[in-house]
Amino acid sequence: MPAYAVIGGQWGDEGKGKIVDFLARDSQYVVRYSGGNNAGHTVLNDMGKFALNLVPAGIFWPHVTCIIGNGVVVDPEVLLKETQGLQDRGVDTSRLFVSDRAHLIMPYHVALDVLEEAARGSRAIGTTGKGVGPAYVDKVARIGIRVGDLLHATDEGTFLPRLEHVVEQKNAIITKVYGGQPISVKALYQSCLEWGERLRPYIRQTEVILQDALAKGEKVLLESAQGTLLDIDHGTYPYVTSSSPSIGGAMTGLGIPPQAIQGIVGIFKAYSTRVGAGPLVTELDDEVGNAIRDRAWEYGTVTGRPRRCGWFDAVAARYSNAVNGFTSIVLTRLDVLDGFSPIKVCVAYRRDGQTIDRFPTNTLELERCEPVYEEFPGWTEPTASAQRLDDLPRGARVYVQRLEKLIGAPIDVISTGPKREETVTIRPIFAPR
Ligand code: IMP
Repeated sequence: MPAYAVIGGQWGDEGKGKIVDFLARDSQYVVRYSGGNNAGHTVLNDMGKFALNLVPAGIFWPHVTCIIGNGVVVDPEVLLKETQGLQDRGVDTSRLFVSDRAHLIMPYHVALDVLEEAARGSRAIGTTGKGVGPAYVDKVARIGIRVGDLLHATDEGTFLPRLEHVVEQKNAIITKVYGGQPISVKALYQSCLEWGERLRPYIRQTEVILQDALAKGEKVLLESAQGTLLDIDHGTYPYVTSSSPSIGGAMTGLGIPPQAIQGIVGIFKAYSTRVGAGPLVTELDDEVGNAIRDRAWEYGTVTGRPRRCGWFDAVAARYSNAVNGFTSIVLTRLDVLDGFSPIKVCVAYRRDGQTIDRFPTNTLELERCEPVYEEFPGWTEPTASAQRLDDLPRGARVYVQRLEKLIGAPIDVISTGPKREETVTIRPIFAPR
């Protein structure tokens, strides 16, 4: 049962979109298991440049079936707009399916996300404002409305009372706690009817499709969104997203057993970025950080916000590897570091005069940590577009080898540019190991 998970090893934006698109060539399924349209996956291929928020990055390969799993929260307007946008550019979306168990992001979730953030003031998380957190809250509170429910929206006797109950509750919070504008249940009910009709061709019991595919030995790529350090349990709580991007989330977010997983691929950028609030020990609040941001165009795909940039944090990366058990690492955006000298890697933290190599649980503790750096001379020759390990300058190879040792898992692939062919494969991800 060959399933391979592709997981963000850091704070998201590691370049998973390109890698999923690249690996999808040899896969039959690409499936998203967590998050929502807070994610932005950029894919550059023969058809052009695409920014995907919900649709899995395998959609560009005609032989690939794409699935949005039950662990994803789906804003129906966003999904319909994204599929329409893809169709308008000649991409076939008839191979896309969405789980009937996936929860919906409703307009009241978006309203609450924005209002709650504003009320947090200086303690704001810096959410993407897409309603993701409030939608997961309702899922856990057992008042969520699922994609499959839309198919029964015409059944006024059961669907409407549920909707009325939840909208009444949300409106009380929106208006009485935050002084916001109430949501019209009548208008929302009409939208639900329309969404049900328009999404009908996509809605399936997707765990059954996947379980059958795995039983037949078909290759399934599990695409995470965000990154391990934003995981609701294992990330830098409370500065996290509300889902489980790490490997555990793939099982619950799809309904497949752990034995199906043959490989767990960690995607790491050659440096660190973070968007939104929360600790980033290696943050560079100086011209080096600005230079990385400008060269790599580190601005959020979803919100356009500048990303905070810093050196590679090997303490965090080791922790991420311990949580996920990576069988392969893909190192992305190595070319961004071309010409930087020195290049630094954080190998331990200093806190209150003590050196620690463990990633702390407590955010306040993490905020007090200072990076202990190891320095590398860097390289002057370009690595951009390299396709073979031998094409990389010696300084770059030394850097990669050291990161591999520090993370504790093999770097099998290095990405040297946004295009599919700008990739160095040291050992194929799907090779038996
Ligand atoms: P939310 O997921 O919109 O609730 O935002 C929670 C935190 O996760 C914020 O710091 C966001 O900036 C961050 N975040 C959410 N999605 C992404 C992503 O795809 N890449 C990077 N950061 C993200």
